[in-house]
Amino acid sequence: MMSHVGIIGTGRYLPENIMTNDDLSNLVDTSDEWIRTRTGIRERRISVGMNTSDLAYEAGSIALKNAGLKPEEIDLIICATITPDYFMPSCACIVQARLGAVNAAAFDLTAACTGMIYGMVTAEQFIKSGMYKNVLVIGAETLSKVLDWKDRSTCVLFGDGAGAVVLSNTKKGGMILATNLEADGSKYDHLTCSAIPLINPCVNTEDISASRLKMLGQPKIRMLGQEVFKYAVRTITDNLKAVLSKVNLKNDDIAYIIPHQANQRIIEQASKFIKIPIQKFFINLDRYGNTSAASIGIALDELAKSDKLSTGDKVILVGFGGGMTSGAVLLEWS
Ligand code: ACO
Repeated sequence: MMSHVGIIGTGRYLPENIMTNDDLSNLVDTSDEWIRTRTGIRERRISVGMNTSDLAYEAGSIALKNAGLKPEEIDLIICATITPDYFMPSCACIVQARLGAVNAAAFDLTAACTGMIYGMVTAEQFIKSGMYKNVLVIGAETLSKVLDWKDRSTCVLFGDGAGAVVLSNTKKGGMILATNLEADGSKYDHLTCSAIPLINPCVNTEDISASRLKMLGQPKIRMLGQEVFKYAVRTITDNLKAVLSKVNLKNDDIAYIIPHQANQRIIEQASKFIKIPIQKFFINLDRYGNTSAASIGIALDELAKSDKLSTGDKVILVGFGGGMTSGAVLLEWS
């Protein structure tokens, strides 16, 4: 018998510190008007003192409480992030210890802004296979530590935060009806954040220029903005069509779409291409900017805790991001 997988709890955590567009115009040559009209973003949260695992822990413990589970009932913790505290240990292991989820396996997953979607689909497979019952998936980022605060074309776009969901083998909550995952590594250089350069006693550093050496080892986000824009609009549309067709649903059957919160104009264009009214797209990027792997979990928690969802509503989560990666999850709410 086919087992069902549903979201039984959600949570979010945003750092208290707000950075407005006017605050940013004191750092780089930009303006509130430029940022608002090009992106829709008005303000974002920038963490002071809390690293990614701290945000992940807060969102994860709220999701657990919301699900009505004790930490020891969690079988697996997946943390989707591109800004972990350490390369090792994983963010998920730090969260496991702080939650006291002593029975949980734990690992991190990298799919950039599509991290929550990849994490949920991974969790779904563990549950469907019968290996695990309850899985906590957290998307958490402190992008502020990898932004180039002198580059006005990227530093205005992002923010810090965490969102979490608990998935279990049940039809209750948000039951997963269909999923889709895609990747196009040939476009990997559209959106990058470098890691550790290959320097060791066998490498002659004299072959590397002084300016390049200085840059190496300082991870910073670099983006080909217009290429990412085109990729985003196309893959939102493709992924929405893919999950709808897998369960023979039509545009009109969908109550809400929660897109990755990157840019208002990306969402507006996708809405036109797929011919689903913009009112059906849940948008909070005006308040938080782009929080990468955290954005869909934060938005889902806001929507789930509002009075907007009714039993039977179909909701699609759709993401795109560095890699390049994209994906969608279609849910039925109860
Ligand atoms: N303030 C003022 N001017 C700026 C700013 C800024 N913050 N940033 C760029 N500009 C200037 C540029 O220097 C350029 O000036 P120039 O004409 O004198 O050279 C001018 O604005 C136009 O620059 P473009 O890059 O062509 O601006 P565009 O209209 O493409 O908007 C943007 C840039 C908003 C980044 C857009 O390309 C975009 O939305 N791309 C999608 C990328 C995105 O949202 N990424 C999020 C991360 S991706 C993810 O989540 C997976």
